[in-house]
Amino acid sequence: MAQADAEATLREAARRHAAGDLAGAVQRYKAVLVARPGDANALNLLGVAARQQGDLAAALRYAEAAVRARPGNAVFLLNFGASLAEAGHLPRAVAALRAAVRADPANAMAWRNLGQAMAAGGDAAGALEPLARAIATDPRVPEAHLALAHARREAGDPLGAQAAAEAALALAGADAALARQARFLLAALGQGPAPDRAPADYVRGLFDQYAARFDADLQGRLGYGTPLLLAGALRACGVAADGSRQVLDLGCGTGLSGVELQPFAARMEGVDLSPRMLAAAAARGIYAALHEADLMAFLPARPGAWDLVAAADVLNYLGDLAPVLPLIAAALRPGGIAAFSLETGDVAPYALGPGMRYRHAPAHVAGLAEAAGFAVLAQDAAVLREEQGVPVAGTLFVLRR
Ligand SMILES: C[S@@+](CC[C@H](N)C(=O)[O-])C[C@H]1O[C@@H](n2cnc3c(N)ncnc32)[C@H](O)[C@@H]1O
Repeated sequence: MAQADAEATLREAARRHAAGDLAGAVQRYKAVLVARPGDANALNLLGVAARQQGDLAAALRYAEAAVRARPGNAVFLLNFGASLAEAGHLPRAVAALRAAVRADPANAMAWRNLGQAMAAGGDAAGALEPLARAIATDPRVPEAHLALAHARREAGDPLGAQAAAEAALALAGADAALARQARFLLAALGQGPAPDRAPADYVRGLFDQYAARFDADLQGRLGYGTPLLLAGALRACGVAADGSRQVLDLGCGTGLSGVELQPFAARMEGVDLSPRMLAAAAARGIYAALHEADLMAFLPARPGAWDLVAAADVLNYLGDLAPVLPLIAAALRPGGIAAFSLETGDVAPYALGPGMRYRHAPAHVAGLAEAAGFAVLAQDAAVLREEQGVPVAGTLFVLRR
């Protein structure tokens, strides 16, 4: 391919990429690389396409190669940093994104990504300045205001968080998902009514960006013990871990819950909203099938199919459990068991907490369970994990249909 042809192919590839034809774009970027090995633009754009296709390993490889081919290019550093952040390598992401803003201090996206990577790494206070720089550079981007709102909330500035969330809402325009998320954050700050559940796109986005760090974070820093506690509650209720049951792991995430449920299962399936969490669950090799779906939509698909339906640290993303418990009951065979954890407290009947999850009143949930035809076998108070060093109080429920 001649130089001029390679340029034309690159332009055509970028045009297809922008139009959403990822396969067509990737094929042409690769052709450019055959003609011009090490072409930094083609490498960078292949990295972007790989990230869009969910192939983080390839995204990192291409993005790093683009940076090596042209060090000091802000856009390439930005894409490399964004890929590192998505892959959970937060300190390296922050370093790449700092280099990006040094290379081009007028790149609002690089400032935003830097702030978001710092916040994801637990430095919400440190994220405030880069996020403010992102907004000062381009004030019209609602995502930047929303990111600042989250960082301010996490840094303990609810009034500032409210102002930023209101700015995000005002700029959201036709972006209904972003508006929903801004309203959800405002509700968690006590401004406006709480919806009856967390928006599905918020939950999916939250766990997609968390997936790479989830296991290490939950089992390390956050002292997450819910799956083990739930399995203990099942055994204490006489549910034998005898490998005999059809088990459904609702909101299976990366499969930490599945590991503890497996001894009860002849066959286990999982369902979750987040494709990245599901990819990690698949890698464990313990699920016979995994489904990307909302649990509310999935449950009615197979009435009476399950012996055990479990949800560890999942139903706290739902506020109103009145529609959920009958769906779980109908998915179980008669005599089947439901087991789930909830964050609980003195609320009536549920409330959206500042951690952006719902807390429920245990007595209310027990009433809903009985109304759905369950016998309550256990309703045990438990510490589910820690949040900012504070134990999260919850209740483990075991029910029999
Ligand atoms: C905190 S994680 C817990 C994962 C796993 N159960 C465990 O114990 O490690 C919560 C998971 O529930 C999923 N989730 C939340 N709401 C959901 C819904 N309505 N439908 C399906 N999955 C949901 C999230 O995507 C996330 O993976």
